Amino acid sequence: MLSWDDYQDEAPIAKTRIAPALAESPAAYRPYDDLADSDNGADSDGATAAPAAEPAATAAPEPVAPAAVPAVDPNAGAANTAAANETAAKAAAPETVTSAPAAAAQQITDPVARAKQAVAALDATPGLEELEMGAARIQVDEKRMINCRADVNQLVPFKYDWAWQKYLDGCANHWMPQEVNMNADIALWKNPEGLSDDERRIVTRSLGYFSTADSLVANNLILAIYRHITNPEARQYLLRQAFEEAIHTHAYQYCVESLGMDEGQIFNMYREIPSVAKKAAWSINHTQGISDPTFKTGTPEADQELLRNLVGFYCVTEGIFFYCGFTQILSMGRRNKMTGVAEQFQYILRDESMHLNFGIDVINQIKLENPHLWTPEFKQEVTQMILEGTELEIAYARDTMPRGVLGMNAAMMAEYLQFIANRRLAQVGLAEQFPGVQNPFPWMSEIMDLRKEKNFFETRVIEYQTGGALSWD
Ligand SMILES: [Fe+2]
Ligand SMILES: [Fe+2]
Repeated sequence: MLSWDDYQDEAPIAKTRIAPALAESPAAYRPYDDLADSDNGADSDGATAAPAAEPAATAAPEPVAPAAVPAVDPNAGAANTAAANETAAKAAAPETVTSAPAAAAQQITDPVARAKQAVAALDATPGLEELEMGAARIQVDEKRMINCRADVNQLVPFKYDWAWQKYLDGCANHWMPQEVNMNADIALWKNPEGLSDDERRIVTRSLGYFSTADSLVANNLILAIYRHITNPEARQYLLRQAFEEAIHTHAYQYCVESLGMDEGQIFNMYREIPSVAKKAAWSINHTQGISDPTFKTGTPEADQELLRNLVGFYCVTEGIFFYCGFTQILSMGRRNKMTGVAEQFQYILRDESMHLNFGIDVINQIKLENPHLWTPEFKQEVTQMILEGTELEIAYARDTMPRGVLGMNAAMMAEYLQFIANRRLAQVGLAEQFPGVQNPFPWMSEIMDLRKEKNFFETRVIEYQTGGALSWD
């Protein structure tokens, strides 16, 4: 191992020996990862640097010393050149200069010099080579919802204005759980006479299902869908949606904490209560295909698998599985019970209806651009998925409402869910399966359209508290 003094003494030799080779092959710089790999554990202070001869035996054959690159770079300024000369001086050593650049790089023990060397050796072309249009400015017609090779980092020019508008609308609807006053809910929940057992069952089941369901949705967005949607304005909305899902999970946790509920019971309900667990399992089954790291779109089979996921999460999970619980809690709020929880659910429902509409638009756009995917067999399969989701949600309604409660019962909810299923089928261009069913809860659509400022439950929106929490003791 060379000392600092050794580097200084050998610097002139290094520069004269290395520079000619670089002049012939200035582009053959080694990326930083290669240098790090050949570092053999050398710390930034140089205390544990490996013997110089060891990496030389396995080093790449290019006769290029990266440390001296900036010295011959025609684009480098005077300051950079001087710094690079210093880097080269520190890097070179008599026993390594004739072997390999990896060994020379290994000798850079000064962290600043190593950083300068890495930046000088940085090659900007590999990232662009992954894109077919890497060298050209993006044209709007090149944009595609899936399987697009145009640059996904350029937000504009927009192709799907609706996706950008939904991003803007989502931002305009921003809210946080701490804005909602929970005091009346806490008093009611802790009063033994405050709610009936059936009403308590609905609150507990709802928080149990939703407290993990939104995590399933968020994980599917980030770990599965996002990679395969190759359009930047749609991705912009996906990022907004992902944050909203985090807010929703926060809202459920906020309700559970403020009411002093058993967190273990609530957050494990998706594994322990059959009517909840079946819905969760159905969703999880539909994320596994495309969340596999080896999954790639680009074949009809793979593209259909992505569509299955989109239908499974947007049309069924967010489009059907949320509707019994939302209706129950919002009905409770309309009767002036659990108004804080109901207000949280009201804001969440408004977000969710936008998620649903975005997902429907994405599905229809993919169909438009890839009509070969929408085969008769596949349409039958998607219809089946929506019907399965409807059955699971009707089973959940029966479990959560063994008797009539809050002016509704399981039979009314079943009709409402069939009405919702018809809507979902029609939204993706499929035939309705429950002819003639009516909406027994027309007030639900009114709530979805409410703006936040128009406070439906006349509860007081507290002053916004960043990073704070209400005290309810
Ligand atoms: Fe959500
Ligand atoms: Fe959502």
